Amino acid sequence: MHSESPIGVFDSGLGGISVLYEIHKLLPNEDLIYLGDSQYNPYGTKTKEQITDRCIAICDRFVEMGVKMIVIACNTATSACVPLLRERYDIDIIGMEPALKVACERGADRHVAVWATDFTLKEKKFAALMHRFDQEHSIEKVACPTLVRIVEEDDLDNEARVNEVLTGYIRQSGAVDSIVLGCTHFVFFKKRLEEMLPSSIELIDGNFGTARHVRELLEQKHLINENGSGTISWINTLPEKIGLSKKLFSHMEDSIK
Ligand code: DGL
Repeated sequence: MHSESPIGVFDSGLGGISVLYEIHKLLPNEDLIYLGDSQYNPYGTKTKEQITDRCIAICDRFVEMGVKMIVIACNTATSACVPLLRERYDIDIIGMEPALKVACERGADRHVAVWATDFTLKEKKFAALMHRFDQEHSIEKVACPTLVRIVEEDDLDNEARVNEVLTGYIRQSGAVDSIVLGCTHFVFFKKRLEEMLPSSIELIDGNFGTARHVRELLEQKHLINENGSGTISWINTLPEKIGLSKKLFSHMEDSIK
């Protein structure tokens, strides 16, 4: 394995582009391959077996391409099968989970809403995470499937729809100190949410933490690419989504703080 090898990043579709952006910003010399599985999107309403089959197919493809590391830029895929993938492949596999710990470490008796997919919120992995914090904090689970659809349908500019959908999920969240964006598609709504919510409510996502973890692991393994040109190669199981993928990447500056 070489430091010059690319890193493979994947998601059920286009949400992981928000993570790809953070990795590229933090590690500008790394060559990245982004694989969006839009043909099979959403994962959030599929079974564990269906999601696992897709993840294996994608990781096999990445391994054939000679990647040095795989980033699962998808909370849903991580909760479905990250232990199995780590057992199956020799390279490092980085996963994501809703940043509930970060939200609860902000103080005592926090009121936190976790926005994620139905699958993530129902899985054992999240139940275990929640159990660590729900005695001392109050945690509300909110499944937000429509946010995934809006990104995949290239409808982020549809202000009326976006406002109506976000208003519904904000209402479902109740009175909170923070909202955890536990699905990578939701990060594209961060700027809009900041405009809608009082500034006392914090929005927390795991994207920067994931990019930092990628860097730490590459450093530990002496796999940092010092000489690469930071190219991004785009693959999507629906090739017509490549244009939208690039558009979402270049709009990230506006979508996040
Ligand atoms: N982006 C994915 C996540 O982080 C899920 C979207 C889907 O339902 O496919 O969980």
